[in-house]
Amino acid sequence: MEKVAIIGMGMTKFGECWDKGLRDLIAEAGAKAVTSAGIDGKDIQAIYGGNMSAGRFIGQEHVGALIADAIGLSPIPSTRVEAACASGGLALREAYLSIAGGIYDVVVAGGVEKMTDVYTEQVSLTLGGAGDQEWEVFHGATFPSLYAMMARRHMHDYGTTEEQLAAVAVKNHSNGAKNPLAQFPFEITLEQVMKSSKVAEPLKLLDCSPITDGAAAVILAKESFAKKVCDNPVWITGSGHATDTLALDDRRSMTTLDATKLATKVAMKQAGITPKQVDLAEVHDCFTIAEICAVEDIGFVKKGEGGKAEADGMFDLNSDIPVNTSGGLKACGHPVGATGIKQAVEISWQLRGEADKRQVKDANIGLAHNVGGSGATAVVHVFSREVR
Ligand code: COA
Repeated sequence: MEKVAIIGMGMTKFGECWDKGLRDLIAEAGAKAVTSAGIDGKDIQAIYGGNMSAGRFIGQEHVGALIADAIGLSPIPSTRVEAACASGGLALREAYLSIAGGIYDVVVAGGVEKMTDVYTEQVSLTLGGAGDQEWEVFHGATFPSLYAMMARRHMHDYGTTEEQLAAVAVKNHSNGAKNPLAQFPFEITLEQVMKSSKVAEPLKLLDCSPITDGAAAVILAKESFAKKVCDNPVWITGSGHATDTLALDDRRSMTTLDATKLATKVAMKQAGITPKQVDLAEVHDCFTIAEICAVEDIGFVKKGEGGKAEADGMFDLNSDIPVNTSGGLKACGHPVGATGIKQAVEISWQLRGEADKRQVKDANIGLAHNVGGSGATAVVHVFSREVR
């Protein structure tokens, strides 16, 4: 297998981007990534673009070709990748596989979503498409309500408290406050989270990731090209992808995402690491309970200990394993098709020492964890400063 490096990265500001269309967002992120790689667009041979639902958010389909056109890279092949909120992570994996498998030398992995042009009700219905239409959504389930059920079960089984959930949001907003590209670059207090309006009990407004516009892109290259053009490549040393049932009630457990566990196992085995060796991680905190499940399922703590660990500051910026230094989905924002790529952008900036006020000291190994729906897809990547 070819070794694969990230040689350039870029993202737009996340948020409510009234003045930018889908095309503008992609073009901006793509141009930033190409500029950061310092390469000629002519070197790029293919595009993999994550997008969950431009058709339902803004009436635009045929997003693969649109991305190539927007970045000015037509007529190269451009493929839209869809796996709900894991569309970006899966686009990264498909791009990675295309180089690792020897098909291409240089490709773009991008992600984009434009969610704020429709009302919240329409966004909820569209996101609901990631769940089981027949058995969940038709009966009134929304994503906040599905994750609320996971939270209730976690509280029942392990004694996790609403304050421990809130601690995740407080931490991620603290990190987001140091990220100028975040949707919510401000700190919040535990009291503010606890007093915020109820969305689906026990989840409150400040336990939820927001509705977001945004795009992100990375340039991937094989080893010989990367070493020729780039002084500080970030190597993708492990890539895992797993699936599970769409419906939450069909799962073995409501609080363990087996897809996360499996994707992590595959990615870590390939990278030859254990959870203890990870210096920082971007995990899928679409709701605060999701981060608690993620740190347990990835193996940073034992099952049931995630809530306490979060409240004790085990994943704070200055801790041994900072989690969601970008602000996570909660504070940086969650443009669903772009999130998995944004995670790769953040880890790359961190490993290159370019993360400014939120820089983690001596960051050598990073992990990104991207989930689709309530856990029917999970994609995990391990990144390293060292080529392996
Ligand atoms: N976190 C923090 N602040 C938020 C927020 C969030 N998640 N969502 C909205 N806000 C803020 C808005 O900026 C706005 O502030 P302002 O009055 O100062 O401008 C205020 O709260 C009200 O915003 P509004 O857009 O009216 O909220 P809403 O009720 O329409 O939407 C949610 C709130 C929680 C329902 C919506 O953000 C949501 O559905 N989030 C989950 C998205 C999701 O499911 N993603 C997929 C995960 S699998």
